[in-house]
Parts: sequence; structure tokens; C-alpha cells
Amino acid sequence: MPALVLLGAQWGDEGKGKATDLLGGSVDYVVRYQGGNNAGHTVVVGDQKYALHLLPSGILSPGCTPVIGNGVVVDPSVLLSELSGLNERGVDTSKLLLSGNAHIITPYNVTVDKVTERFLGKRKIGTTGRGIGPTYADKINRVGIRVQDLYDESILTQKVEAALDVKNQILTKLYNRRAMAVDQAVEELLGYADKLAPYVADTVLVINQALEENKVVLFEGGQGTLLDIDHGTYPFVTSSNPTAGGACTGAGVGPTKISRVIGILKAYTTRVGAGPFPTELFDEDGEALRRIGGERGVTTGRDRRCGWFDAVIARYATRVNGLTDFFLTKLDVLTGWEQIPVCVAYEIDGKRVEELPYSQTDFHHAKPVYEMLPGWSEDISKAKSFADLPKNAQNYVKALEEMSGAPISAIGVGPGRDETIEINSFL
Ligand code: IMP
Repeated sequence: MPALVLLGAQWGDEGKGKATDLLGGSVDYVVRYQGGNNAGHTVVVGDQKYALHLLPSGILSPGCTPVIGNGVVVDPSVLLSELSGLNERGVDTSKLLLSGNAHIITPYNVTVDKVTERFLGKRKIGTTGRGIGPTYADKINRVGIRVQDLYDESILTQKVEAALDVKNQILTKLYNRRAMAVDQAVEELLGYADKLAPYVADTVLVINQALEENKVVLFEGGQGTLLDIDHGTYPFVTSSNPTAGGACTGAGVGPTKISRVIGILKAYTTRVGAGPFPTELFDEDGEALRRIGGERGVTTGRDRRCGWFDAVIARYATRVNGLTDFFLTKLDVLTGWEQIPVCVAYEIDGKRVEELPYSQTDFHHAKPVYEMLPGWSEDISKAKSFADLPKNAQNYVKALEEMSGAPISAIGVGPGRDETIEINSFL
């Protein structure tokens, strides 16, 4: 019953695509359990580069069944265009399974996301503008549209009416925008029904049966721990639960089924959008990390904010996710620095604090306390084992492991599929 959860240990963009792809060959099912096309994975296979937003990265491994779980929010137009884009490049996508309980990002929710951000002005979250927040809000308000609703026109019409009733009031009276027509939205949604039908399935049943048959199931989180709606830097978060518990609710498996929880941890830190970020750099080091690390969003094309490694956050991720392992990514990006600062604690209003403060006010005041670790200048991208790394790179990894509270079981030393050092097998 090997059920692994793979999730971001920081603010997302830690390089999960590479990790899932590394496991892809030995994994039978890859399940996305939350988020939507706000995510962005770049997967490099041979000389081909794939940018995926909504599809699980297992879609690129022929033996693997990719699953979009009930906890995901699905923009049908994005899903269909990602599928046809892959088909054009010769990738077989016929095994994809889509939960009938997944919620649909309707065209009006994409509009609401953008208009709300504009209305918030300086207080905006910096969302990806993909309708993620409003779709989860509809789900919780019980006016959401689910994939299965596409197959009952009368129910779909009633539900769109219910959703637009309130939204149109807000759009016209508060935001000064045009109201959205129910029949137009229904027509657009019905247009997706036949195209999605071959993929729609009872994914909860499929996943649990697979686990009973001892298949290897990988639950792939989007975004990251600090963007979690409950455990992240609220309100500068996404509207779902990327943390490990989200895999249970977002895929319909019990916590007793999960055997391993792997946190993807970048060797430094990045964040997109607004919100506190204690180790953020505004100097040439930040610029260098951005340039060398290629830190530009796959989904929005926005530059990522960059900073040094933050061990306080890593410890927090270990705790809230019950991490059993880390996959450390992008170690090669740090090559060339004489000394590498690592944040080991915060100073908050004159006091040293070792753990992530629960108070938002305190976190906004947190200043990093740095320890300097010696750097290395050798090219590490060809390293195949831990012993191949220069001594200082080894010591950097060991120090991070000690500070972060879980073993580092794999290290990414370059973007390619084979540029990974495996220390402990995940399976
Ligand atoms: P939303 O998920 O579009 O609602 O955006 C909420 C916050 O999460 C914003 O700060 C986004 O930049 C951030 N965010 C959403 N998806 C990702 C991701 O895949 N990587 C990094 N940040 C993300």
C-alpha cells in the first residue's frame, strides 16, 4: 500500500515536477488533490520541456494513470487545451481520470477573481487571476458547479442561476460591471460535457482499490505549505490545502493509508505574489538567484521574489505535514557563492524566536538571523552520488537537514531528469 504525498515545503515552485517525474516510472497513479491551473510544473524529458498547469505530471509517464481528484478546481478550457497540446506532441493522455466531484472554474469566477483583485488595490493578494479563490468560495458557500453537473442540464441551469443571483448583484452594484447571463454560462459549460466525458470517473473508488491492490499511488500537491489556507501566511495564501491533510480530503483516502510524506525544498527560497517573506533579498544576490535559478513563474510569467534558505519555515513544514523526507532542489543554483547565509531563527521585536510565530503581526516583523555556511565553486551538475559533491556542498546539505528536522533523501543538481542524486529511495 505505498501511498506517497509529495508537496511543496515553502511557498510553491520548489521543483515538484522534477520530483514527481523522477518517481513517475515506478508510480502507478499520480493524483492531484487541490489547487487548479494556478500551479505550474516544468518537466524536462530529454530535450523536450513541458509546462503543465492543471494536469498531474504523471501524464508524461506511459505506465502511469494521472488522476484529477475531487479537491481540485478545474477550468475545462484549460484542461482541454493542455490535453490537445500534449496530444500534438505525441503524448497519450487517454488514461486521465477526472473526479465527477471536482469543482469547475466557471467563466464568471475568472472574472470575479480579476475584478476583486483590482478592487482591493494596494491590499491585493497577487492571485494568479485564474478564478481559484472564487471557485473555492462557491464550493464552501454550496453554490459551486461540479463536473458531474455538466451531465444534467436542468440541475446545471438551477445551480448557475443560484450562483449568478448573488454574483450579478456584486458585479453590477459594487464593481460597476455588466451582469453575466445564465444561459450563456450554461451553454459554454454544456459545450465541455462530451469532450470531458471519457475522463470522468469515481476517482475515490479507483484510488482506494488501487491501494488495496498494492499499487503505488503518488499524491501531488500544488503550491506549497506556506500558501495553505489554514497553515500558510493568511491572507496571502491560496484557497486550498496543499499540506498533507489536503491529500486525504482532496482525494478521498484515509490518513492511515498514507505511508510517506515528502517535502520539496528549494536550496534557497522564492515566493510569488504579496505577503511576508523574511529572507527576501533586494540586492544583487537576489537578482543572481532569480537569474541563475530561472525564477520566473511558469503560470503567470511573473518574476519570483528570491531570498536565502529559511530553516524556520522548513521546520514548520516538517511539523504541519508530518514530513518523512525532503527532496532538496536546485542546489546547483548556489554554486559560486563564497559564503551562503542560512536563516536559522528570527528576531522579532528584539527577541530571538526559533519557530514560526502563529501571529501574523509577529511574522510581518520577523527579521532573519543568519548563520554563514562556506560555499563551493565546482560544477555539481554531474554529481551522481552524495560523495561526488564538494565537501562544502555536502556540509550545506547536512546543515539544512539538521535544521529542518527530516532526512534529505534526494538532491536536485540540475533541471534535467537525470540530474538528481538519490540518497534514500522513496519506494
Ligand atoms: P491564487 O492561488 O491564484 O488564488 O493566488 C493566491 C496566492 O498564491 C498568490 O500569492 C499566488 O501568487 C500564489 N500561488 C498560487 N499558485 C502558486 C504556485 O503554483 N506557485 C507559487 N505561488 C502560487
